[in-house]
Amino acid sequence: MIKLNVNGKTVEVDVEEDTPLLWVLRDTIGLTGTKYGCGMALCGACTVHVDGDPIRACVTPVSSVVERKITTIEGLSSDRSHPVQKAWMEIDVPQCGYCQSGQIMSAAALLAKNPKPTDADIDAAMSGNLCRCGTYQRIRAAIHRAAELAKG
Ligand code: FES
Ligand code: FES
Repeated sequence: MIKLNVNGKTVEVDVEEDTPLLWVLRDTIGLTGTKYGCGMALCGACTVHVDGDPIRACVTPVSSVVERKITTIEGLSSDRSHPVQKAWMEIDVPQCGYCQSGQIMSAAALLAKNPKPTDADIDAAMSGNLCRCGTYQRIRAAIHRAAELAKG
């Protein structure tokens, strides 16, 4: 059994050590908000936080995140009250939605480290998160709005 800390709760999972974290989150624990896109760390759909840093769960062996704090989109807030979630709803960012939990997790990690990012900061932090629907302009606007909301 492997013991994980996911969204503030301890969970024990019976999986092989090299199982990708994404499969454990989605298939074993049932947290399906994190998406599978490419499986090769190329699209960002599977982004979650490990100790606050955005990582690609599709290429992260579950054994490497034992004793670390894993946060998924479901754990960002219990009631969609995180500033990034509020800004995303206000600006109506998603189109098909598939990439959006990964986008939100990368944006939240950026703002946690850089509360007032420039456009260049945003583009650098978000460059690994692809959106086939081309919502990039709204994503950038929503990150600026989330920064304002977080400041109060
Ligand atoms: S599914 Fe992980 S980066 Fe694409
Ligand atoms: S909203 Fe459709 S892929 Fe990004």
